[in-house]
Formats: sequence, structure tokens, C-alpha cells
Amino acid sequence: MGEGCSGSNVAVEFRNFSFTYRDGSSPALRDLNLCLSAGGFHLVVGASGSGKTSLIRSIIGLIPHFYRGAMTGEVYVEGIPVSKSSIREIASHVGYVFQDPENQLLASTAGRDVATSLESRGVPPDRAEEMARSILRDLDAENLFEIPVHELSDGQRQRIAIAGEIARNPEILLLDEPSSMLDPAAAEGLMALLDGLRRRNGLTLVLVEHRLGPALPLADNIVVLGNGSILISGPPRDLMGDWSSVVKLKSAGVDVPPVIQVYHRLKFSGVDIGGVPLSAKELVQGIRQL
Ligand SMILES: Nc1ncnc2c1ncn2[C@@H]1O[C@H](COP(=O)(O)OP(=O)(O)O)[C@@H](O)[C@H]1O
Ligand SMILES: [Mg+2]
Repeated sequence: MGEGCSGSNVAVEFRNFSFTYRDGSSPALRDLNLCLSAGGFHLVVGASGSGKTSLIRSIIGLIPHFYRGAMTGEVYVEGIPVSKSSIREIASHVGYVFQDPENQLLASTAGRDVATSLESRGVPPDRAEEMARSILRDLDAENLFEIPVHELSDGQRQRIAIAGEIARNPEILLLDEPSSMLDPAAAEGLMALLDGLRRRNGLTLVLVEHRLGPALPLADNIVVLGNGSILISGPPRDLMGDWSSVVKLKSAGVDVPPVIQVYHRLKFSGVDIGGVPLSAKELVQGIRQL
């Protein structure tokens, strides 16, 4: 820890990074050392107030360029030190979807919004519309093309906000609690779409959530935040298969999906269904095989 990330395939690195907001009484982020590999699906979880949004702000440069306060250490995005760069430069590498995408859509219709994003990147208007359709298709939202932005539901608005960011062709896509406004089935659907985008576009995906469930089966790596520090991190199967990690997650205020609890109950009572299931489907498969 604190030695920097090994290997060259790193999209985001926090090195001994701490930040206290100017009017905050204690650090929002405390001595973070974290390496997020390029092309990975990274899930950051933590209770409300644990520092999730601050972590995102530190990657996109809003911390320290917009939110003032006391900072030590550094965050590197694609090797660029964020504090020595600008929000504008960082934005050319990073797409970001706010927790409330209400304020993120500007154009008259969903299709126009995505096309405008493409045009601002230099795509000629006659090509932009066709490309916007194809991006919306990837997000299973082509039917929204002509819909006025003010008529979209929260979930639809979120898809359009994601499409608008994809149109900017970022290397890294960050989402702040994207599943919080969705029911479990819709949340799972969104995770699958995001994972598809990640694979197809070679994106690094960083998702911040207060619950584990929807992204758990797809994530490569989980980082658990508590009170501004990293409590534990690792691949989902390593964390979920280890009861002491599950206890740490629960005491950090993170919702652990019922399948994980069921698995450990069974294991304690001597029933081993093999590896830890990361979804209801995997649990059913494990029980069938018994
Ligand atoms: N603009 C701000 N000014 C002062 N303190 C803030 C500001 N934003 C967040 N904080 C504080 O930083 C800590 C982490 O907040 P945040 O990053 O929003 O956590 P989360 O997204 O996990 O809920 C909290 O104690 C919060 O009150
Ligand atoms: Mg937040």
C-alpha cells in the first residue's frame, strides 16, 4: 500500500489520498490507496455518508478544482495527476452520470440530447443522428429517440444520460448509485447493459452503490468504503465466500443480498452447495446439483 499501482494497465489510482471539505469537520476520504484496472467492472459500496460521491468527485476533478478543502496525496486518471490538471482535461477521459440525471439532460428530445453530445465532439450533424440511434440501441432505448426529455421517466432519463456520456467516447464511465431509483429487475437489466457497453467499448466502469445485489454477479472487483476509508476490497467471490468479510460489510451498513446469507446459513449447518452463489439463479443451480 502507498507504493503505487503495479503494472501499466491502470485507469484510476488513488495514492495516499485524503480530502476534507472546507466546511467539513472530519475527512470525507482518508488515506486512500486504490488501483482500478483498465477495462474492469469496479463496484464501490458503502453506507450513506461513507464517501462514495466524494470518491467520484475526486476522479472527475470536482475535488479539488470545484469543491475546496484540504487535500493530501494524489489521484491519477489515465496517468494524469488530477490536482495538477483541469476538470476539462479530465472530462476528455471520463464520463459521469449524476445520482439525479434530471439536471444532466439539456436538449428537447432524447435523440437530440445524444446527437448534441456527438456534435460537440465534432461529429457532423448528418452522421450524429445515425450514431445517436445506434448508441440508444445499445442501451435498449432506441424507442425513446423522439420522446421529449420532460416526458421521460426517471429510469429512461438515466439511460439517456448514460447514452450522452457514451457519445463523448470516454475511457472511463462513472455512475453514482444508478440502481437507487430502479426496482430490482430493472436494476439487473441496467447492470447487464452497462457490462455490455464496457465490453464493446473497452470501457473502465466504476459504479458506486449502497447495495451490493444488482452488480454483484458482474463486478470484477468490489471496494467497501466506511467513514472515508477502504474497509475491504477484492473479487466478489472471495469477499462473499468469506463470512468475516460479509460481517464487515453488514456492519458497514451495506445491504448484503439474501442469497449470500442463505449460502452461509447452509454452510454453517453442514450443507455445502459448492462455491458461493452471486445471484438467485446461481443459488438454485447449486441446490439442484446437491
Ligand atoms: N459539499 C460538501 N461540503 C461539506 N461536506 C460534505 C460535502 N459533500 C459531502 N460532505 C461530507 O463528506 C462525507 C462523505 O459524503 P459523500 O461523499 O456524499 O458520501 P456518500 O456519497 O457515500 O453518501 C459526509 O460526511 C458528508 O457530510
Ligand atoms: Mg452519494
